[in-house]
Amino acid sequence: MISHKKIASSIICFLLLLLLPITFSEPTRNLEGTSARAPTVQQIRNRYGTREVIVDNGIIRVSFSSPQGLITGIQYKEIDNVLNPHLRVRGYWDLTWQGQNTGRGSLDRVEGTKFNIITQTQDQVEISFSRTWEGDHSHIPLNVDKRYIIRKNTSGIYAYGIFERLPQWPEVEMGQVRIVFKLNPDRFHYMAVAEDRQREMPTDDDRNHAKSLAYKEAVQLTNPRNPLFKNQVDDKYQYSCEVKDDKVHGWISTKSHVGFWIISPSGEYRSGGPIKQELTSHVGPTAIASFISGQYVGTDMETHYKSGEAWKKVLGPVFIYLNSDSSNLWEDAKRQSKEEVDAWPYNFVASSDFLGRQERGIVTGRLVVNDRFLTSARFAHIGLAPPGEVGSWQTNTKGYQFWTKTNETGYFTIDNVRPGTYNLYGWVPGFIGDYTYKNSVNVASGSEITLGRVVYEPPRNRNGPTLWEIGVPDRTAKEYFVPEPYKNTMNPLYLNHADKFRQYGLWQRYTELYPNHDLVYTIGASNYSQDWFYAHVTRNMDDKTYVPTTWQIVFHLPYVNWRGSYTLQLALASASWANIQVQINNEYSRPIFSTGNIGRDNAIARHGIHGIYRLYSINVPGRLLRMGTNTIYLRQAKAFGPFQGVMYDYIRLEEPSRD
Ligand SMILES: *[C@@H]1O[C@H](CO)[C@@H](O)[C@H](O)[C@H]1NC(C)=O
Ligand SMILES: *[C@@H]1O[C@H](CO)[C@@H](O)[C@H](O)[C@H]1NC(C)=O
Ligand SMILES: *[C@@H]1O[C@H](CO)[C@@H](O)[C@H](O)[C@H]1NC(C)=O
Repeated sequence: MISHKKIASSIICFLLLLLLPITFSEPTRNLEGTSARAPTVQQIRNRYGTREVIVDNGIIRVSFSSPQGLITGIQYKEIDNVLNPHLRVRGYWDLTWQGQNTGRGSLDRVEGTKFNIITQTQDQVEISFSRTWEGDHSHIPLNVDKRYIIRKNTSGIYAYGIFERLPQWPEVEMGQVRIVFKLNPDRFHYMAVAEDRQREMPTDDDRNHAKSLAYKEAVQLTNPRNPLFKNQVDDKYQYSCEVKDDKVHGWISTKSHVGFWIISPSGEYRSGGPIKQELTSHVGPTAIASFISGQYVGTDMETHYKSGEAWKKVLGPVFIYLNSDSSNLWEDAKRQSKEEVDAWPYNFVASSDFLGRQERGIVTGRLVVNDRFLTSARFAHIGLAPPGEVGSWQTNTKGYQFWTKTNETGYFTIDNVRPGTYNLYGWVPGFIGDYTYKNSVNVASGSEITLGRVVYEPPRNRNGPTLWEIGVPDRTAKEYFVPEPYKNTMNPLYLNHADKFRQYGLWQRYTELYPNHDLVYTIGASNYSQDWFYAHVTRNMDDKTYVPTTWQIVFHLPYVNWRGSYTLQLALASASWANIQVQINNEYSRPIFSTGNIGRDNAIARHGIHGIYRLYSINVPGRLLRMGTNTIYLRQAKAFGPFQGVMYDYIRLEEPSRD
């Protein structure tokens, strides 16, 4: 039933529309001397009678649906629309959410209901498409203001969003926020996500005629347009990237010599810290600017907003960059991304919620490690993130995070920090565990906080020396044995590549390598890069049956301190629906330790070499050990599918303290 109110409001809307100054014709384009003119904004009715806003700076001409604020067209050089003209929705924000009583999660394109010109000067135009929550339970309780800035003599669009919820609003889950572009498939075929991760890509159509593999995102190309791609695998997760490395990614049209790039100048507005992995670009052609997601973390990610909880965050700006003038478009995109990073925080953003350089603070210090000896924390990641538990930054989405790396002697400078209360977190390559500074750090506008020397004492058994170790503490399983891919489901991009682990199906190799007996690793004889499989997965018995697996670490002890406590340091790089149980010298005894059911990061299926980090310091009473040969059993006890298991980062056995 249509309510009278609705009809009345429709009539009012219609009357209002009649009053608006509307141009029916497309504005003409000034073709010569175009490079440096002031950007213009026009509100028009397009040929379908719907309203559009067009911003044109003589270099690019961008059309937005109004007041929804979807980007419907980007005209650049000879290309009428860089975006896919065959799709209705091609340049959009979206988020996933679930309310208390909304049943399954839903996707919201956060379409605006109100259009505003925020600034219009000789130098730039900033426009806004906003939506205010008015108690309608079919929408997420959230105020959203999507902003776009188009500057003079700039071939690109700055995009950011101001997201806000008020404390009295109902509780809600919000798991993903991003901007997505669907590019013109007739033009863009070459994709670049990193220096050594670029290739000519299959098409959406190729995927539609392909064979699905173990999950829907991965397909085997059985009948691709380009016959060279036959039997290759395509999976968007092969192009994931850590936030710290995701400064620029995108597509090139070789035919038109045009590049389309997403530049992320800062990690402050992203989620999960510097080594959180996110999708980048993938077949479509699709390019994503991701702000919040649970990728490679899963349900541990912070997605819940309680009733009574207020929240506000500025997501972005990211820069959508188009190029054509350089002979090497990737190199030019990298140069531009460096320029954007150097210009951060931008000084041309109108919203007072985005803070300029003078409104931010600096924190400096020197990190040293005390692990039996004092050493400088060389090239360690160190950052400010909202106060919380050790390592909580890995799952944090709501706050801002500011990360940097220490130099060779442990010094660090974290600049451009928004005022607020933070914890200082970090970790040091080569050492286990997470660093957290004892006090919270209060950053004020314009302040410089000098912390001086701060000391990280990694977990160690009261100075107990190391008996043996497996792997290197680097929060990944990269150094272990990563098998070769299957010939009929590989991605040639990752052959002879440092990122071997990005191939599809590697987890299945475990069952082939260890068909009857599980992995046994002998300290002193085995080599972790050959003999330690990169993931502790289940064994596939037949099509549908998986069984738990138990790995053994065999080691020799010339003497045992019966009364002492040994420590097994077990660092995990990833966990998916797993439970690791530890037994000493008797596989059938009660485990001395169990992780419990942990992890939903799905990094095994998603070809990440890590998810989130977990460290267990496990007490091993000396009376359980023997003089001579000992065995530690690591049993991954959960097995209902192929993607379950853990990736180890590093394992170490420590003696009791000698002092
Ligand atoms: C326009 O930008 C280009 C580089 O992006 C620069 O070389 C040129 O000087 C600029 N022109 C004007 C008029 O500002
Ligand atoms: C590290 O940074 C400190 C402080 O800025 C500086 O004095 C030192 O020279 C730097 N060390 C190296 C090896 O770059
Ligand atoms: C382990 O194997 C790797 C490569 O297979 C090799 O480079 C390394 O030297 C070996 N380490 C030892 C201690 O033998």
